[in-house]
Amino acid sequence: MQKRIFHIESNAAVARDTFRMVLRTDGPVTVRSGQFVDIALPGFYLRRPISVSDVLPDGLIIYYKVVGEGTRVMAGYVPGTPLELLLPLGSGFHPEKCREDALLVGGGLGAAPLYLLAKELLALGKGVSVVLGFNRADEICLAEEFRALGVAVHFATLDGSVGTRGFVTDAIAAARPAFDRFYTCGPLPMMKALCQALDAPGEASLEERMGCGAGFCYGCSVRTASGPKRVCADGPVFDKEVILW
Ligand SMILES: Cc1cc2nc3c(=O)[nH]c(=O)nc-3n(C[C@H](O)[C@H](O)[C@H](O)COP(=O)(O)OP(=O)(O)OC[C@H]3O[C@@H](n4cnc5c(N)ncnc54)[C@H](O)[C@@H]3O)c2cc1C
Ligand code: FES
Repeated sequence: MQKRIFHIESNAAVARDTFRMVLRTDGPVTVRSGQFVDIALPGFYLRRPISVSDVLPDGLIIYYKVVGEGTRVMAGYVPGTPLELLLPLGSGFHPEKCREDALLVGGGLGAAPLYLLAKELLALGKGVSVVLGFNRADEICLAEEFRALGVAVHFATLDGSVGTRGFVTDAIAAARPAFDRFYTCGPLPMMKALCQALDAPGEASLEERMGCGAGFCYGCSVRTASGPKRVCADGPVFDKEVILW
């Protein structure tokens, strides 16, 4: 884990309350899919954990939703603003465990870390299908980025404005993608329903409020079938079998 200074290259709204931030630093960046950064915001005691969506030779890309005071302040940052990040944090997904075809299922901004995972899976020669769920059309982000990778992308929206009306499980039933392993990130009820509906082995990325973000304070502990685990250090990605919903 490193503490490094990044500078904002761009910070723009890409969907409803959703921003894409490109950050650059002074050297190579190594992060795996599912890992996250913990961002220090001047004036705020706790850092904000945000998943890495893509890695650049000297930087990274994150997507964040404005939900509270910290992310509201982030949305106002202009290019050139320095930010201190802890990274890389967490365990990440395991693309190497996919035999041939992977299904990636994102709910809302859970799509963000799945983009880097899709790139890793493709680099390993695996087939990739993506199912993304949003409440409504103006929340959709990353669609073009996934399509540019050449992977099949299916949508579910609660209001039916794009793709299948309903939940990601409805879109999967409609698209019937072939897969031997699935990976998911999004709201807990979505991931629970998905893990219970799919027979294949899978991995889910959990979210918990964090203190240190680096495994020291145990503030993010969750009960699992393998005992208490820290979401920040043992996770955030866990095999579906160990998660106690
Ligand atoms: C591993 C991980 C990866 C994440 N990746 C993303 C991402 O890629 N994009 C994104 O938009 N959001 C992501 N989140 C959620 C993001 O951390 C919160 O939305 C953000 O911290 C809210 O900050 P705030 O000051 O705006 O909200 P406030 O509610 O004002 O925050 C108050 C405190 O609660 C914490 N907090 C609030 N909501 C959450 C939450 N859902 N999870 C964890 N801590 C929270 C804040 O960090 C802060 O310490 C991730 C969370 C985790 C744990
Ligand atoms: S946030 Fe401190 S151990 Fe996870």
